Formats: sequence, structure tokens, C-alpha cells
Amino acid sequence: MERFLEEMNAYKSIHLWQYPQDAQLKKRLEELESDFADDVMQSAKYYADETTHILKGRLGTPTKSDFVIGVHLPASGISLDRGIKENVQSLLSSVNAHVLNALHFERMVYDDVFHSYENVEENLLSTMLSIGAERLTQKEMMYLNRFSFVRGMEHDMDIVRENMKVADITNTVISPQYHKCLKLTAPEGESYVTSLTVDDMGDDMSGMHLFYDLQKLPFPVEVSIKATIEGKSVTKPALGFKDTQIEEKMQEQMETKRFVDSDIDEASQMIQTLQESLKQEENCLWNWVATIVVTGKTKKEALANARDAQKYMKDLGISCKIPVADQLQLFYRNLPAKGLEFINKDWQQKTLRDGLAETLFGATAELGNKIGWHIGWIDRNIYNLDKNSAVANSRDFVLFHPMLGNQQIARTMTKSPHILISGDTGEGKTFLSTVLFIYTSMMKIKTLFIDPKKDRRKHIEGVLKQEWLHRDYPLFADVLQKIQFVTLDAKEEANWGALDPIQLFNNRTDAKEMIQIIIHQVYDFTGTDKDVIELAFLEAIDNTLNKKELGGQVGTIDVIKFMQQHGNQSVQNAGNLLYQKIENSILKLLIHDGSNPALSLEQMRTVLEVENLDLPDAETSMEDYTPSQLASSAVMFALGRFCELFGSNPDERTMEFMDEAWIFNVTQQGRKVKKTMRRVGRSQENALCFMTQKIADEDTSNFGTAFAFKESEAIPNMLDFMKMADTEENRDLILNMHQGQCMYRDLYAQVGKISIECLFEEWADTLETVKKTDVARAEEAYL
Ligand SMILES: Nc1ncnc2c1ncn2[C@@H]1O[C@H](COP(=O)(O)OP(=O)(O)OP(=O)(O)O)[C@@H](O)[C@H]1O
Ligand SMILES: [Mg+2]
Repeated sequence: MERFLEEMNAYKSIHLWQYPQDAQLKKRLEELESDFADDVMQSAKYYADETTHILKGRLGTPTKSDFVIGVHLPASGISLDRGIKENVQSLLSSVNAHVLNALHFERMVYDDVFHSYENVEENLLSTMLSIGAERLTQKEMMYLNRFSFVRGMEHDMDIVRENMKVADITNTVISPQYHKCLKLTAPEGESYVTSLTVDDMGDDMSGMHLFYDLQKLPFPVEVSIKATIEGKSVTKPALGFKDTQIEEKMQEQMETKRFVDSDIDEASQMIQTLQESLKQEENCLWNWVATIVVTGKTKKEALANARDAQKYMKDLGISCKIPVADQLQLFYRNLPAKGLEFINKDWQQKTLRDGLAETLFGATAELGNKIGWHIGWIDRNIYNLDKNSAVANSRDFVLFHPMLGNQQIARTMTKSPHILISGDTGEGKTFLSTVLFIYTSMMKIKTLFIDPKKDRRKHIEGVLKQEWLHRDYPLFADVLQKIQFVTLDAKEEANWGALDPIQLFNNRTDAKEMIQIIIHQVYDFTGTDKDVIELAFLEAIDNTLNKKELGGQVGTIDVIKFMQQHGNQSVQNAGNLLYQKIENSILKLLIHDGSNPALSLEQMRTVLEVENLDLPDAETSMEDYTPSQLASSAVMFALGRFCELFGSNPDERTMEFMDEAWIFNVTQQGRKVKKTMRRVGRSQENALCFMTQKIADEDTSNFGTAFAFKESEAIPNMLDFMKMADTEENRDLILNMHQGQCMYRDLYAQVGKISIECLFEEWADTLETVKKTDVARAEEAYL
């Protein structure tokens, strides 16, 4: 910004304007429609509509901050017959760079003049492009001019844009008879508008992020700065005069009191610093006036918002006024291409360009996808009482699309379509992943949710039994009914071998590798005769795979049997031990004789769970695993490889959710599986969503998107993963996150804190994982 402002020295006068632009939420959700699954189309459309509805109900018009820079084109760049030039200049007393397109209307009359302006504008444009700005179209320009006259009214930006004529720009009745506000009446509706002026920014402007900070208010706010450069021929004598004045005062104080008041001393130093920096040619003083505009549906609301803004600014150390008599003046002066500086000297700030740059014009905290489902809200504050108040205080809704990581979208920073959800137990990982799962279930995405804790089935089936669901929310019931539940139970003979590598993989290498992973997880190859045993084991695998290739019915149990029949006693012993381990164990799911088919999921949405899975908790180290925990982790690894198969079909979009995925990090075998799972990504249109308790074990580059809930013991790891600086402020930001809040790193590598919220109350029971006791509820009620 500072570099940019230096370039602006040549243009003398600029307007920085931040306004709440209609976010066109309805349109965005309509764009999502092409991704809805045919069999639940009606439900998906309903939830898309509901999203718009609920957000509109809460926010009025959902908005996103938009930024406009207006630049006064210097007359000196234009050589013309004086008469015409003055004529045009009086017609358009100052011209906005972006306004220029609007001038085309008058083109026929002043063709030459416009050509000259166009040249100047071309030059300006290249400067603008360097800060990522774009030139406005004529329609956008007209809308922006109209905006001031319909601010605070619900209106469709597109409709206003498309149907407007120049003559309509000011088609609004402005009634100034109200105290501290104006009433606007237009064909679009009615609103009340209050302008505030900033009259004291304090001496130290650093940290005064006027534009950025005002976006944090829970209602739409406009901020404008109109700035002009003060010629050095004006500044120098003025400063000299001031300097002499202060010098005299200091002398006088020294003579009478023998010391100088600190404020006078400070003023003297400031003037000297200023004089010093003004010696450099590129430095000059900017005079600027900042105004804040708030609106309301009623006069009361406009004034309440104005007072809230005033108080908020005061807390930041910036003093604002709500002028009584000047509202109409301010309204007109704030329009694009008008000067503000002459209304009231008190409102004028004088700073070098760095003071202006501190206002953080152009900074937003946007996160998420432009098109997607609503998952929550940005929380821009370090502290918030709880998640609900963070939600209530935010206007920044977050949209998320589960499969966009697969496409090469301009400006995305990531190469990985995979998603990480991490955090301590109870912080909200399963809650978020279930919301994502339901959203995904309404899309053309084949989805698999691996649920080792068996939470989902209980809740979803429980909800499906409720009469209210079918009576009041048939469209939600329809989605839930389309979810297939598959439970692998080692007690059921039909499930034996469902995940047997020999049945799962056609490819020899894959099958061999997977058998090794499973057996290494449950058998310790480190004792005496280890080489003999391992060699025989590998031969056994080859032998069994050969039989399969010859059309025999074999399974991984034949590998064990081969070992049992081996000539070497140690190998026999190993085989016998393994055979025993498999008997009556969950390993039956992985090791069988080939008489059952492998698990195959044809349906679009599946929740897969395993009966009697005995996972250790994440803190337990591998050495302390019980045999049953070792067997259960081997089952998880097989499920991991199954995900890979599920996702490998390039003809369909697939997504797998893997809860308790930290298990893959504990052992070498698990890490091997994880590595192959990750490979199935973009080219297969596949996304994996990993839920884990330990962010320290994960690598940023493997996950294009990440949601990191709080891990109290691993704040530095969280910062590191999110690529955030390890500062006290950032640590505080994380430490103060509540249940249901997380740091979100989106596809564009933008990072911020968000509060996860599900907008639909009928989903609540489906998302609940821990039932609150009545006592806990009562306890909360008295908080
Ligand atoms: N965004 C949210 N909104 C409302 N409630 C939430 C939210 N996030 C979490 N909760 C509540 O917190 C409880 C615990 O969350 P969840 O089960 O998702 O935690 P978890 O991170 O998966 O924990 P674990 O590691 O033990 O599986 C849920 O039952 C839910 O009621
Ligand atoms: Mg969980």
C-alpha cells in the first residue's frame, strides 16, 4: 500500500472506499446446483434455499466487503485547447479513474478530450494492476454511483445493475428532517443513513486499521477516506510557522518553570521528524477525511448502529462524531468524485503516506470457497465469550465445497485435494465431519464414512425412528434414508475375508504388501530364526498368489497354512501362533480362505463400521498395545487400503472420511498405508478427509484444506502447520478457541479462526455425539 500511495503522489487526490457489497448468496447456491445428486435433488435444493433464507433472516442482505479506489486524473496530463478543457473540467469537477468509463456517455461531444483522459487512465491502470485492482465496467460504475442512494435497502445488485439508466442514479428522495440521520426513499425501498466522521486518530497511527477493524462490526459498515496531497509550498511554511510557535512556547516555559511540558516537547519532536522526512522528494503530507456510514431499516436502528460504531472506535482509541447539522452535506460530499476536505477542519487528518497505509485499505478476512455449503462464520476476535456469541457477532459466513480441491482453480495454492480435521477430544471434529458428510451426501459424490467409534449409525438410525422427522422434515429424512450402513462383524461368517488382501487386490504387489503390513502388525518378526521365518512367510505369500493366478480359491489363511506345514520347526511354530491369533479374532475380517467375496460398495453413500473394534487411545504408545488392539489397528490399516480402492475409479468423484486416523501415525505399517492412501487424489477426483487428534504428526503439504481444533498441548505445532507466526497474539487466538471453533486453512492458503455452525435444527440430533446429561444442561442454564 505504501508503494502504491507513493505512485499516487502524481495524482494529487484519491478516494478509498470500502462498502458492503451484496454477496449474492442465492446466486452462489444456485451455482452449486449442478453438483447436486439426482436422487436427493429436492432435498439439496431445499437446503440451499434454506441457507439463503436463514442467512438473510439474520444478516439482512448477506454482504462481503468490496473496495473501490477513485483517482483524480490530473488536468496537467492533458493538452487541449483551454476553452474545451475548462468546460469539461467544470462539467466533471473531478474525475475518478474508474469513473472514466462513465464518461463514454458524453463521448460524442468531447471526443478529443476523452482520448486524452483515456491515455492518462491507461497509465494509471498499470499502477492499479500492480496492487491487484481491476478496472470497473460501465455497469459496475453506474451501480457504484447508485449504491449511495440505495444503501441500507434490500436490493438485488444484478437487477439494479442491468436495468439502470444514467438518469436513475440519483432517483431517491433524501429527507434531511431527522436528527443525526437521513431518510432515503427510492423505488428499491426505504432506509435511514447516518454518517460519522473520524475526528481524532491520536498521534500514533500505527495499529489504527480503520478499514479492517470496522469490518468486524455485526452490521454493514461503509468506510471512506478522501485524501489530497498538500503541496510542499504549503506544508513547508506551515510547518516552519508551527515550529517557531512551539519554540517560543518552549522558551517561555523554560524561563518561567525551568522545564517544558511533555506534550509540547513531543509536538516539537514530531515537527522535527516531519520536517526531516519531508526533505525526501517522495514524501509529502496527505490531508484526509475519514467517514463511516451505517444504515438501518428504522431511524432507531441507524442511530443505534452509529453509536455502536462510535463506541467500538473509541475502544480502539479513535474518536468519532455523529454530526447533527452536516448529514446532508456529508452524504453528497461522500459520493464518488467529490471532495470532502473543506467541510470541517476538525475532521481533517494530516499524515505521511504511511499513516494512510496503516488503515489497511483492501484487507479482508475472507475464507473458504466462493461456491459451496455454509459451514460457519469467521471469528475475527481473539476473545469471545463462547462460540454462540462469536457466531452472533460475525457477518462473515464461510462456504465450503468438498471437491474443489480437485480442480485447478486460479489462485489456489494447494496441490492436494485432501482435508485434515484435527484437535483434542471433544472439540468438534466428528460434528464438523458429519456436517460435511451430510452435505456431501446431497452431491454427486460417492461417499464413504469410516466410523470406528460407531457413532453415526446410532444417531442416524435413532433419528430415522422419530415420527417428527418424517412428519416435519421429509426432505431430511429422504437424505438420511439414502445412507447405507455396513457393519463388519467378525462373528458373522459372511463377513470373514471381507477385507482379505488376496480378494481385495487384483494386483500382486498390492496384495503382497498388504499381507505383510497386516502380519507385521500382529506378529513380531524379531526373535531367533527371524530371517528363516520371514523368508518362509514371503514364500508362502508368493505360493498363495500363484495358486490364485491359476484360478484356485485361496485367501490369506492359506499363507498361514503354508507356514504351518513348513519343514522348519520355527516356521511351523510361527504359523501355529498366527493361526491361533486369528481364531475368534477380528482378524477373521482380513484373513480367510477366499470363499467369501471382498467388500464392495456400490451405493452412493455408505457409513462403514466394525463391530468390536478395540482401538487404544491416542496417547498409548505402540509397545503397550494389547493383542486385541494390535489386531484392531491392522483392521484400520486394511480399511485404509480399502479407501484407496474406493477412491481409485477415475470415472466418479469419491470422498472418504476416516475418523480416528491418528492410528496410521503410530506404527511404521500404518504410515505405509497412509502414504499410499494419499496418492489417490486429484487425477482420480478423490478427496480424503482425515480426522486425527494430533496435528504434530501431519504435514501441511499433504492437506490442501485443514480444520484444526484446539490442541492445548500442541499450540506451537498448530501454528507451524497453519504457517502462522509464533507470536503471543496468535497463541492467544488459539488458546481462546471454544468447542466448535477451529483454525481453517482454505484452498487459497488463507488462514483464520472460524466457528462451525449447522444452520438446521433438525440436523442437531444426528450431529450429537455426546448426550448432555440433564444436570449438565441445568448447570449451563445457571451460568
Ligand atoms: N460446532 C458445534 N456446534 C454445536 N455443538 C458442537 C459443535 N462442535 C462440537 N459440538 C458438540 O461437542 C460434542 C463433541 O464433539 P465431537 O464429538 O465432534 O468431538 P471430537 O473432536 O470428535 O472428539 P473425539 O476426538 O473424542 O472423537 C458434540 O457432541 C457436539 O454436541
Ligand atoms: Mg470424534
